[in-house]
Amino acid sequence: MARIRIRHVAFCAVLIVFLYHMLPGDDALPHLPHTFSSGAPNVGTAQLARYMNDPKHVPRIIANRSSFAWNTVELVKQPELTPKLPSPFTKRPRIQHQFRPDSRRVAAEQERRRQEVLRVTKKAWAGYKEYAWMKDALKPISGNYVDQFSGWAATMVDSLDTLWIMGLREEFYEAVEATATIDFGKSTSYTVNTFETNIRYLGGLLAAYDLSGHDVLKTKAIEVGDLLYAAFNTDNNMPVDMINFARAKEGTVLAVEAGVVSASPGTITLEFTRLSQITGDSKYYAAVSHVMDVFASQQNSTKLPGIFLDTALQNLFFHPMIPEPLDILIAGNLDVLSTGPSLDPESEHLSCFIGGLYALAGRALGNSTYLTAGAQLARGCAYAYHAFPSGVMPERYNMIKCPNPHAPCPWSDEVWRTEREKRPHHRIGVCAVAPHGRRRVARDGVAHVRGRGARHGYRDCECGRRRCGQG
Ligand SMILES: *[C@@H]1O[C@H](CO)[C@@H](O)[C@H](O)[C@H]1NC(C)=O
Ligand SMILES: *[C@@H]1O[C@H](CO)[C@@H](O)[C@H](O)[C@H]1NC(C)=O
Ligand SMILES: *[C@@H]1O[C@H](CO)[C@@H](O)[C@H](O)[C@H]1NC(C)=O
Repeated sequence: MARIRIRHVAFCAVLIVFLYHMLPGDDALPHLPHTFSSGAPNVGTAQLARYMNDPKHVPRIIANRSSFAWNTVELVKQPELTPKLPSPFTKRPRIQHQFRPDSRRVAAEQERRRQEVLRVTKKAWAGYKEYAWMKDALKPISGNYVDQFSGWAATMVDSLDTLWIMGLREEFYEAVEATATIDFGKSTSYTVNTFETNIRYLGGLLAAYDLSGHDVLKTKAIEVGDLLYAAFNTDNNMPVDMINFARAKEGTVLAVEAGVVSASPGTITLEFTRLSQITGDSKYYAAVSHVMDVFASQQNSTKLPGIFLDTALQNLFFHPMIPEPLDILIAGNLDVLSTGPSLDPESEHLSCFIGGLYALAGRALGNSTYLTAGAQLARGCAYAYHAFPSGVMPERYNMIKCPNPHAPCPWSDEVWRTEREKRPHHRIGVCAVAPHGRRRVARDGVAHVRGRGARHGYRDCECGRRRCGQG
């Protein structure tokens, strides 16, 4: 049985959208700071860039080269070096909404929230620095640390762009200085996860480089990019999910796993394209271009052809039965059975990005169907947040699919009870405990609530496959 989760669709859809969106327009310069100084309309953003990138405060940082030069590996199955990176798009539609200035009351409220977010971030960062500096992650309850992503300071690299965007200049450059010493030639694990390494390290470095223009970040991005490039050293040049670190160094052919998460070869198209853009070296783009071709060419021979925007629109989203008359969509899971596709109305927090993705597609492709779906999906996510007393939605939850999206779907206690019985709770971290909104604190200290969620149409919910509070 093939199960299609939202993230699979998302990363496929990204393939279409990002080509349209990511390639810089004619007027775009290599680094955002240039764009800012050439008259970006957002004054606040331009001020931030001037503050963060003020040469007087940018320390001179030289990269410590990794102990292994990944660019010297001779790959037995060297990916084709074509196609070359296409020239930038010249006409791109405007994506973002043009906001009018906020009223005084709204501006004051926004500022209060901004300060609170800043306060919490500084606290979390200080915790990471004290207990887990240069480690992948801090364990917030024990105060220990864990290196689950090869030990290259994942939290630090992943946070670089956030530090910059929040204007935390001192913290940012301290982190850049530490990043300069990361050794991508050594790993704490014997295999390296392609997906995580790409999104956290390469993505983190590229984002921070785009914002700051600091050369050290580019140097490190190339090092880890060349490590990831070794993942494509396979018989069919599709990347492996897990890179055998020692074999990758030797350049020996890696064997692609029998099953891979499509998000892994899917999302790397974005980072590798950007890496080609900032280095002028087409090899990264050529490698992922091949992946995109494979995705596209295989679609019509899958059981649910065309897992791109339209197929997801038709098969993956549903209107849930809820007590309020709201126009929302929820992203579920799809099981492709021998009898055809079957929707399982289980959703997850991770799917919250999908509204933005459809909105982006709507703007980029000038299509109001996608834009409308994007708004409905975003409202669905917001609904799930509001439905719980903590204001935070569960990691995973089930709702009840309305039988006909075009007909009224009135709330029924009876239907809700019947459906609920079909899904007994079966994993630890289940948040259904006390009746009617009484909190019970789970083992890990995270509070979860049943009662109120139930009134809002949730059949059940849980904290995810791992223990609550992790991941
Ligand atoms: C960085 O490189 C310098 C010079 O090679 C060396 O002395 C220093 O120990 C290195 N720092 C780290 C953290 O690897
Ligand atoms: C797949 O089918 C669609 C619809 O029939 C068609 O437009 C598309 O060109 C096909 N794609 C490939 C790669 O054959
Ligand atoms: C928008 O996309 C939908 C779904 O693919 C399609 O049916 C519709 O014709 C498109 N509209 C425009 C204006 O392109």
